[in-house]
Amino acid sequence: MLKRFFVEDALKAEEDDEIELVGWVRNKRTHGGLIFLDLRDSTGVIQVALKKGIADEESFRTAEEIRLESAVRVKGIIKHDPRAPSGVELRCKSLEVLGPSLDEFPIKKNAGLRFLLDHRHLHIRSPKIAAVMKIRAILVDSARNWLRDHGFIEIHCPSFITAAVEGGATLFKVDYFNRTVYLTQSVQLYQEAAIYGLERVYSLQPSFRAELSRTRRHLTEFWHLEVEVAYAELEDIMKIIEELFYSMVLGVYDRGRKELEFLGIELDPKVAEPPYPKIRYSEALDILLSKGFDIKWGDDFGADEERELSKEFEKPFFVTHWPREAKAFYHLPDPVDPRVCRNADLLAPGGYGEVVGGGQRIHDYNQLIERLRENGLNPEDYQWYLDLRKYGSIPHSGFGLGIERMLWWLLKLPHIRDACLFPRTPARVYP
Ligand code: 4AD
Ligand code: MG
Repeated sequence: MLKRFFVEDALKAEEDDEIELVGWVRNKRTHGGLIFLDLRDSTGVIQVALKKGIADEESFRTAEEIRLESAVRVKGIIKHDPRAPSGVELRCKSLEVLGPSLDEFPIKKNAGLRFLLDHRHLHIRSPKIAAVMKIRAILVDSARNWLRDHGFIEIHCPSFITAAVEGGATLFKVDYFNRTVYLTQSVQLYQEAAIYGLERVYSLQPSFRAELSRTRRHLTEFWHLEVEVAYAELEDIMKIIEELFYSMVLGVYDRGRKELEFLGIELDPKVAEPPYPKIRYSEALDILLSKGFDIKWGDDFGADEERELSKEFEKPFFVTHWPREAKAFYHLPDPVDPRVCRNADLLAPGGYGEVVGGGQRIHDYNQLIERLRENGLNPEDYQWYLDLRKYGSIPHSGFGLGIERMLWWLLKLPHIRDACLFPRTPARVYP
């Protein structure tokens, strides 16, 4: 493996240090007999200046002809120069091509959105996308740290399933050796089985939704952080959501400063400091009615409703006690008011909306059968899940957090697909 120095270090080097870098040519300018190359690696971009007499003849000629995104090795001397974009430039002595670009690089300055998405495999070289992906990694890592520190066991669940978790309308069918199975929308039901051995579990894996709605917040494949906790009730799980959510924001704030600054994002972690406001569905409905929405008791909220509702808040907030007809079959009806369930969504403020969905599960065998029927589902399709209520069933709660949704809000990205390396939406499964 190449032993090497990174751009990040070169930018911090002393005047006249002699340095060798490898990277890709992001940009090229000529100016009065000088050639300037912007050299990019995974840590940053540095200006490389070639001047005849300092750079050898051959290197100068190579630079004259080089195509953008060629991979190169550069040797030179560090000079602090306020005219260089990062205040530092490498005066090149020699330039060697490691991997040439065989054609002109297709991505140009004013490329349209569609072209960029068609060339996502090349576009992801951009430092901006790299910064978003680094923050994404920090976000996920921070979640794992918090969960590990709080006694959660990471488990891995199947993605091929035989019955819906979140309603049949968004199931992707798969031909499984001449049998129809589905891609999972959530691993919740498997987690509920796992708590009987492990008590506090989490999973981080893709969920799939055949969601045709073309909004700025829907993907057909997303990364789902799901948590399930034995003996936890609704209030307990909301506390876990708050603390985990805050620790993820803090993690990005602490460890993603360089990237946040590069992206021009001022993140104040106070916006995510618990406790979060809690309102009931009925109160949320009143707010929406007062804003002129045509919505009635029992309806789930769509993207428009969530956007407007979330504009009323400055912190993430919970909407609790949703009508039983608005949400999936497994939510526990509230013993005090059985028209609603003991569940909660966490919505991100400022026009974003749902990031977490969760709540307390039904743990009584007969009640679960009744709720399955009420939802038009066949209890026979849920035999193994019903078994969990037959042997030592206990109260338990859990939730699912959409990683891309959280990043979308945190970084104020124009569209949820900007949170993905290779987004999957109804219109896009390539590249
Ligand atoms: O609210 P949802 O549907 O809840 C569940 O799937 C539960 N079974 C989770 C659980 O309790 N274990 O989805 C949870 C979260 C949403 O709040 C949202 O952040 C994300 O998953 N999500 C999506 N993200 C992107 N694109 C989509 N189409 C999404 N659908 C859900
Ligand atoms: Mg939901």
